[in-house]
Amino acid sequence: MTKKRINPLDNDIQEIFLSHEDIVTICAKLGKRISKDYEGKTPLLIGLLRGCVPFLAELIKHLTIHCEYDFLEVESYFGGTVSTHAVTIKRDLTSDIVGRHLIIVDDIIDTGLTLKTICKMLEDKGAASIEIATLLNKPAGRNVIGADPKYIGTEIPNAFVVGFGLDYQQKYRNLPYIGILKPHMYQKDK
Ligand code: PRP
Repeated sequence: MTKKRINPLDNDIQEIFLSHEDIVTICAKLGKRISKDYEGKTPLLIGLLRGCVPFLAELIKHLTIHCEYDFLEVESYFGGTVSTHAVTIKRDLTSDIVGRHLIIVDDIIDTGLTLKTICKMLEDKGAASIEIATLLNKPAGRNVIGADPKYIGTEIPNAFVVGFGLDYQQKYRNLPYIGILKPHMYQKDK
């Protein structure tokens, strides 16, 4: 009999929000929808580093159409108000997006500010169409209009979640599931 593998990182998690099986099921459903919506097209998936990596990797396994993917890394600066929010590009795309059907892939949308700014930027560069796919959507955090994801894995309440790309101080991204971090894990840093 094989022994169940013990992951010591599990000890920092209060509760599992989405198991790995849940995530695969979600990605299969989204992949089916996207494949139908983009039939006959070759969409360019744009992953927002770094959180997107596990989600993008799982999602593409369920696409039954041709697709390409590229990555964008941005840094968000938040001022006192929405109007002082700025996004700078740390790593740009290498693909030509003129006339392309883009699907921006992200792990979570919270305020929506990052996505709204990126959509506008890609639109100005001549994309034919832009949609957003996110594994998690936090509607309670939304601050702006115009960052509405067409493809949503699931909605999430206001909780500190990590895993499957989501981090706390760059850690926990490698968990195969999404879990709520035990509060003392981040409170001890205050
Ligand atoms: C997270 C997430 C989104 C953004 C969402 O990225 O991946 O890109 O924040 O926030 P918003 O809706 O409030 O704009 P983060 O900046 O934490 O970088 P990461 O992907 O490297 O974790």
